Amino acid sequence: MTILVTGAAGFIGGNFVLDWLAGCDEMVINVDKLTYAGNLDTLKGLEGDIRHVFVRADIGDRDVVGKLLAEYQPRAVINFAAESHVDRSITGPGEFIQTNVVGTFNLLESVRGYWADLAAEQKAAFRFLHVSTDEVYGTLAADDPAFSETKAFEPNSPYSASKAASDHLVRAWHHTYGLPVLTTNCSNNYGPYHFPEKLIPLVILNALAGKPLPIYGDGQQIRDWLYVKDHCSAIRRVLEAGKVGETYNVGGWNEKANLDVVKTICTLLDELQPKADGKAYIEQITYVTDRPGHDRRYAIDAHKLERELGWKPAETFESGIRKTVEWYLANQDWVSNVTSGAYREWVSTQYGA
Ligand code: NAD
Ligand code: TYD
Repeated sequence: MTILVTGAAGFIGGNFVLDWLAGCDEMVINVDKLTYAGNLDTLKGLEGDIRHVFVRADIGDRDVVGKLLAEYQPRAVINFAAESHVDRSITGPGEFIQTNVVGTFNLLESVRGYWADLAAEQKAAFRFLHVSTDEVYGTLAADDPAFSETKAFEPNSPYSASKAASDHLVRAWHHTYGLPVLTTNCSNNYGPYHFPEKLIPLVILNALAGKPLPIYGDGQQIRDWLYVKDHCSAIRRVLEAGKVGETYNVGGWNEKANLDVVKTICTLLDELQPKADGKAYIEQITYVTDRPGHDRRYAIDAHKLERELGWKPAETFESGIRKTVEWYLANQDWVSNVTSGAYREWVSTQYGA
């Protein structure tokens, strides 16, 4: 059997494929455009592994995706591919509309064409799992209840609006055409192979480089952090047992203010890699201008996933953040490749773009 996974050279998709193939021998077709956020270094350990086939392509390319579906006959498609960084969506929203909205639409159409022609048994067993975010629900006040699956969508950034649009498309392709879809809406992830433009890897790497640790606004915005391997286990569980047409919130019950997250990282670095001058990393914290339209608080109510499918996260924030800091300290090669531009050069030599 085979699954087709999109965006699996990125942070979460990459972790998903590594975990998947560590746990079973089911083949993975990995379709990724290799934008700035895609990094094949993450999948280096799979070089020469016949269970992993990488194809550089856009999810919106119906010709290529249609041919791959026909050739490999996957039993499921898991869609991670997206433009994913809120700050980039503010400075350049066009790519977000193109990939997250138009790309998802084209992918759904390719998959619908493939699925419609499957034999009855394969057709019934097929799943399209769409990986989405809690940001579609909007922002919470301090005393609001956490987001449940029935919370109305109120996206506030170009990123979250484009993801909300993609979730709506996925829902409509189920209700209108009967495509067997599943959607997951997850809170902020962190862990190994995270591109260093997002808060946690950025702070670890800036701290080690002696650079400022930029805190937007007052640093009291709250995110609900989930270790990436827990997100991957939730996706596997939803794929295995989720009810077709349903959405499942995924979260780690770890609401933290940004400033507290940054201070925790500083304390861990003081312990694991003390500065030569004996100073504390916390002294590098710098307050900078706030993000426009910055959502104040996200919090996920993950009871449905626990109650219906028996899923729970394995890591607490404390255990996961320690593993993450240790991973960055031990994997400086991966870091210097993504930050030095050497990787981008390799991509352009290898793929001519
Ligand atoms: P990422 O930016 O690290 O990776 C995205 C991957 O998609 C990259 O490898 C990129 O090359 C690829 N890609 C982009 N456009 C493409 C296109 N048009 N065709 C094919 N491939 C394309 O993102 P991530 O953090 O791994 O997020 C993966 C998914 O999970 C996204 O859909 C995101 O919305 C969702 N999500 C992320 C988080 C988080 O905290 N990172 C939380 C909840 C949900
Ligand atoms: P980020 O990792 O970009 O994820 P998201 O915007 O999807 O939640 O940011 C996490 C939080 O950290 C968010 O509230 C913005 C804040 N932040 C900073 O304070 N400084 C930074 O340099 C970055 C990148 C983010």
